[in-house]
Amino acid sequence: PLGSDRGTRDPVRIHTPSSGHGRTRLAMSTQPREPTSHVPAFDPETRVADAIRDAIARAFEIENADPIVGPARNPKFGDFQSNAAMPLGKRLGKNPREGATAIVEHTDLGDLAEPLTEASIAGPGFINITLKPDALSGLLDALDTPDLGLPAPSAPETVVVDVCGVNLAKQMHVGHLRSNVIGDAIARTFERFGHNAIRQNHVGDWGLPIAMVTRKVKLEAEAGRLDLDALDLATLNRLYKNAQLECAADRRGRAAVRKFDLGPKAAAELEEQVASAEDELAAAKQTLVKLQGHDPEVEAVWRRIERTTMEVCLAVCARLNTRVTDEASAGESSYAGELAGLVEDLETRGIAEESDGALVVRVEGIKEPCLIRKGDGGFLYATTDLAAIRRRVEQLGGERLVYCVDARQGLHFRQVFGAAHKAGYTALPNGGTATLEHAAFGTVLGEDGKPFKTRSGENVTLDSLLDEAVNRAESAIRERVGDGATERDVRTNAEAIGIAAIKYADLQTERSKDYVFSFDRMVSFEGNTGPYLLYARARINSMFEKAAARGIDVGAAESAPLQIEADEEKSLALLLLRTPRVSRGVAESLEPHRLCAHLYDLAVAFSRFYDKCPVVGADDDATRLSRLRLAGLTRRVLTDGLETLGLPLVERM
Ligand code: ARG
Repeated sequence: PLGSDRGTRDPVRIHTPSSGHGRTRLAMSTQPREPTSHVPAFDPETRVADAIRDAIARAFEIENADPIVGPARNPKFGDFQSNAAMPLGKRLGKNPREGATAIVEHTDLGDLAEPLTEASIAGPGFINITLKPDALSGLLDALDTPDLGLPAPSAPETVVVDVCGVNLAKQMHVGHLRSNVIGDAIARTFERFGHNAIRQNHVGDWGLPIAMVTRKVKLEAEAGRLDLDALDLATLNRLYKNAQLECAADRRGRAAVRKFDLGPKAAAELEEQVASAEDELAAAKQTLVKLQGHDPEVEAVWRRIERTTMEVCLAVCARLNTRVTDEASAGESSYAGELAGLVEDLETRGIAEESDGALVVRVEGIKEPCLIRKGDGGFLYATTDLAAIRRRVEQLGGERLVYCVDARQGLHFRQVFGAAHKAGYTALPNGGTATLEHAAFGTVLGEDGKPFKTRSGENVTLDSLLDEAVNRAESAIRERVGDGATERDVRTNAEAIGIAAIKYADLQTERSKDYVFSFDRMVSFEGNTGPYLLYARARINSMFEKAAARGIDVGAAESAPLQIEADEEKSLALLLLRTPRVSRGVAESLEPHRLCAHLYDLAVAFSRFYDKCPVVGADDDATRLSRLRLAGLTRRVLTDGLETLGLPLVERM
């Protein structure tokens, strides 16, 4: 589809329309845009769009119209097309073809594209644009720099990305896959642009559920049923669930027994259940008070739980090739000491108000107020997130705060973001306002279309999913290579390919949508998959090896004159030139799936080029070197893109 290119030209500061899909953006940046003279010389789409925009201004005296330029729907008719004449005709009450004629007459494409004529207009008023044959090589020369068209920003921004978000005493499951993988890819995108990305793992390590399991673990250890030093996450997870169950009073059951008069035995059983659960809960509340008061014994058990959970979490993150570390982890507990002061601040400044004994912040446009203190004096998830925003802006210097969290927490973030702005916690030292965005992701579904679970309804642990993907990748490799590869090669490749498969499958679907988890699809070497992309890159590697083995000076190819002649060369070149624009789109929309789609298109275009245009076996030296250079540039762009997505690479497949 064709889209506006406005707002994507500036390589430095990324602007976002306020109506983005699946996310909330409550404040626009106050920083000025870079002037348009920074239009990158290599991006033909931007240059064509600028030329058409100027033509519209000259022909109709309409400044800054949307030129609606995009890649041609059908490459037979040109390389790009502009659909501007249709809405323009409507607006001016004119026949769109007349409008197109006026645009065509006023467009100056210089030496970039063939001059526009009446013959460039098709159908109701589409304008087809064809680049000049020798323009592409010049554009590629301009792209072929160390930064591949993404120069460092004049003023790097600090972006805080909320990733991972595990909870103590619980196994990581498929939901954490998304937060980790997408969040890390978003952070990597900002890093690729030269911005400063700070990851924050907002660990759920505080509150009553944590106190419940802490008490349980402590009791088990005291009874000699558990060795604290050998505590593992599976045991912890089990104790966590038991504690939850034991604290859950079956009041409904008791009510039913009374209502249907099910007899004294049932009544006694239910009374006992409710009473014991209430006792358990009261005891857990006492443990929470001790935890908050830094009781050394309780705190020691809590620390043990924290270590056990975090060791597994960080190991999984490392295996996933996501840059989530201990330093990047700031649990809810780290804000506990700030909450009373924060709430008092909001109360005294009149930001918060009382409602039925609780304290709330009302946010314009949202019916449900943001609850920050319960009637019993306890603080909430939202209170902690407010403290986190304050710290991220004031102490970490965040100018843009991105939350890669499940879409089902949408209301929570709208409330918290609104409250933070109202409280002035997003005020920047330069007088601007930090931007808050929820990069919401959809749910991972099983084949049955319901949230992905095991047959018995348990969450599937992330580690077991990764193991399965790696095992399947291994079988797929063995099928392909037969006995040709060494055992070690198979194992290392299998790990990388399995991880790439699972990550890519997650990144590739539109972020805010649900998707069905399918091992079969993701580990396939064909189609839009991680393994296919790794394979495309490895294929270029082997092509270069082959060339070098034939005595071709592959180093000389790096600066060889480019000859873009065949259709397949042209398609590949146009896609390469589009890459920086796609990356800017990702940074703007926080949607890594756009880069996935682009890299896939690129890999397919390369494969067509490779099939149709002999490289090593080209007819003459000039062609051979030009094609090698094109292949080398493709490899660099692919490598750069795959690394930005955080996929592990494989050199030989
Ligand atoms: N621990 C939370 C959960 O499992 C996710 C944390 C998301 N981040 C945040 N700043 N609230 O739902």
